[in-house]
Amino acid sequence: TIGNSTNIVWHKCSVEKIDRQELLQQKGCVIWITGLSGSGKSTLACALSRGLHGRGKLTYILDGDNVRHGLNRDLSFGAEDRAENIRRVGEVAKLFADAGVICIASLISPYRKDRDACRALLSEGEFIEVFMDMPLRVCEARDPKGLYKLAREGKIKGFTGIDDPYEPPLNSEIVLQQKGGVCASPCDMAGTVISYLEDNG
Ligand code: PPS
Repeated sequence: TIGNSTNIVWHKCSVEKIDRQELLQQKGCVIWITGLSGSGKSTLACALSRGLHGRGKLTYILDGDNVRHGLNRDLSFGAEDRAENIRRVGEVAKLFADAGVICIASLISPYRKDRDACRALLSEGEFIEVFMDMPLRVCEARDPKGLYKLAREGKIKGFTGIDDPYEPPLNSEIVLQQKGGVCASPCDMAGTVISYLEDNG
């Protein structure tokens, strides 16, 4: 039984992932960027896409904010809907990876079990978790969309880091942090991720 349905079969095609990867000269994978609002996820996603594109690699970004404009426009920020948000994006990211694309997913994804469920959809080494480990006070000071201010004023309820949880990853492939109170540039952070990808084939 798949979901609520029975009698569903999987169709195979003779053009497979390996053939698409051969055509594109790259390996499909998912780079999953997690972290608080304002931690720099979208900026990193964009710098990474730019860096890889410049190296002749096909990328595609699935950004939480953007996906919530379309595919996930029916979802709220309650725990159940966040889980569904992550589940759908995880499934779409898997399709992109299967297409041979380097898919960069950039979502708060606050719950460990939801992120781990996405990891479980992919093969070993195909899911690379990047933790934007920025202190809440730094994200709040940046407050690029003014949402932390609204959350502190009680005008947004259930805002991650204020009155909603964020479970930091325990075993991310890559952790990006400030050094001596200074943040690396988006370009340098993208460089760290690209080096990881190169070192791991
Ligand atoms: S989640 O938790 O993964 O489902 O969130 P995501 O899809 O990444 O969406 C996060 C962006 O939505 C805006 N926003 C909120 N974030 C957290 N909590 C609440 N309640 C909330 N309401 C709106 C916010 O701009 C997030 O954008 P980023 O890019 O993370 O700053």
